[in-house]
Amino acid sequence: MDNKTLKDNWHIYMEKPSLWHNKFHLEMPFGLVNDPNGLCVYNGKYQIFYQWNPTGCQHINKHWGYTTTTDFINYSIPQLALAPIDDFDKNGCYSGSARVNNNRLELVYTANLKDANNIRYPRQVLAIKNDDGSFSKKEILVDDVPSGYTTHFRDPYLFKHSNRSFFIIGAQRENLTGCALIYEEVNNAWQLRGELKTDYKDFGYMWECPNFINIDGHDILIFCPQGIKAQGHKYNNIYQAGYLIGKFNPDTLEFTHGEFQELDHGFDFYAPQVLVNKNRNILIGWIGMPEKESEYPTTNEGWIYSLTIPRELHIKNNIIYQTPVQELNALNKNNETYLNCQDLILNTPCKITLDIDMTDKNYWQGDFEIGGDILKLSFDKNTQEFCVNRDDLSLGGKGKRYFTVSVKEKLHLDIYIDTSVMEIYYQDGEAVATSCYYAKEKLSAIPFKTNIPTSITVSQLNSIE
Ligand code: FRU
Repeated sequence: MDNKTLKDNWHIYMEKPSLWHNKFHLEMPFGLVNDPNGLCVYNGKYQIFYQWNPTGCQHINKHWGYTTTTDFINYSIPQLALAPIDDFDKNGCYSGSARVNNNRLELVYTANLKDANNIRYPRQVLAIKNDDGSFSKKEILVDDVPSGYTTHFRDPYLFKHSNRSFFIIGAQRENLTGCALIYEEVNNAWQLRGELKTDYKDFGYMWECPNFINIDGHDILIFCPQGIKAQGHKYNNIYQAGYLIGKFNPDTLEFTHGEFQELDHGFDFYAPQVLVNKNRNILIGWIGMPEKESEYPTTNEGWIYSLTIPRELHIKNNIIYQTPVQELNALNKNNETYLNCQDLILNTPCKITLDIDMTDKNYWQGDFEIGGDILKLSFDKNTQEFCVNRDDLSLGGKGKRYFTVSVKEKLHLDIYIDTSVMEIYYQDGEAVATSCYYAKEKLSAIPFKTNIPTSITVSQLNSIE
């Protein structure tokens, strides 16, 4: 696959009939997409890279795919930016991040190399964007794994703190516990400063995809610990994506922080990356789950996984609030509000907004059904628990996910419904749940039912381009 073929044939690929391709979620017409990578702004455009195997639906042959946008609605035709064709990265151009340095777009990624015995040799590599739009791998920045750590060493995320330049990278200690290491750029060289000092000394066996950001004055570590056991309704996916809010001392590497909180409570969310643009923090996640490929029937159509809609992050009451970037409002074609509504026919793609008065005791228990046999949401005011239930689906993954939201008088839900992905935003972003759902046949209209007469606004959405 080369960029010319991609460009020349893009519209043909996109016209291929599909039961499940989404309309306003970024995804590729073929192959496997996973982590968003290299998110930044360059030359006035959002740069969006992502892990992409353009040759099949397996987790092999990882390239960096690449698209740009100025409005999160119109995207350039995807291209390949990095291919795993060099001796040092022949087992994959794994995840990494980007920055603009002296007007140059720089990418830092993990070059994955495995030997005949499957032993990994991860290296952290710098690539740059050339004037003609192509990318060149320039230099190995970190050639080996520091002593005391195993070869699970990947996913560098560049960040600035106190006017100094760092990257944080996922690692595994020799005692097989997960952590993150901090490197600092000093005189144009990257030096290992040490481990980020957190209270989580034994929290999973590997921390993938760390991000270190500042939101509204708070230092935040986002990471994906692997190997955390489920605790009641917490940590129910195979791997988690969550965050710690606190204060970082760049001299001692101490990070004083609160408790680990999950970022998304749905079935299909992992490996998010945050794009930092001045004071805006925009998160994009991978809609998928490692090692669960069999739950995604789209492989029958030759493609698998999507990226979330971009979400702006803010802190309120020690929680990261996530709301779709306001640019997406331009997707709205028309809004219609139904009062005291219990039954509707929805045409996807759409967004539905529900406002439920919780002061009336009769409404303390709510059930919402989308698509009859498709997906059920329910809410219990006594326990303040929300449930997303996929047990009645005949295709894809099943199960229930519960989480708690604080509801006093009003329950407010914004549900973004795409062809096979639903993102549910509770209480203006206090909690989000992203899940895939697969209809057996092409659905032009899906029924929506609730036992609570409520105000529902339906906004028909356009597709992203
Ligand atoms: C997370 C991850 C990263 C790795 C990439 C490979 O989903 O496993 O740790 O760099 O995917 O595609």
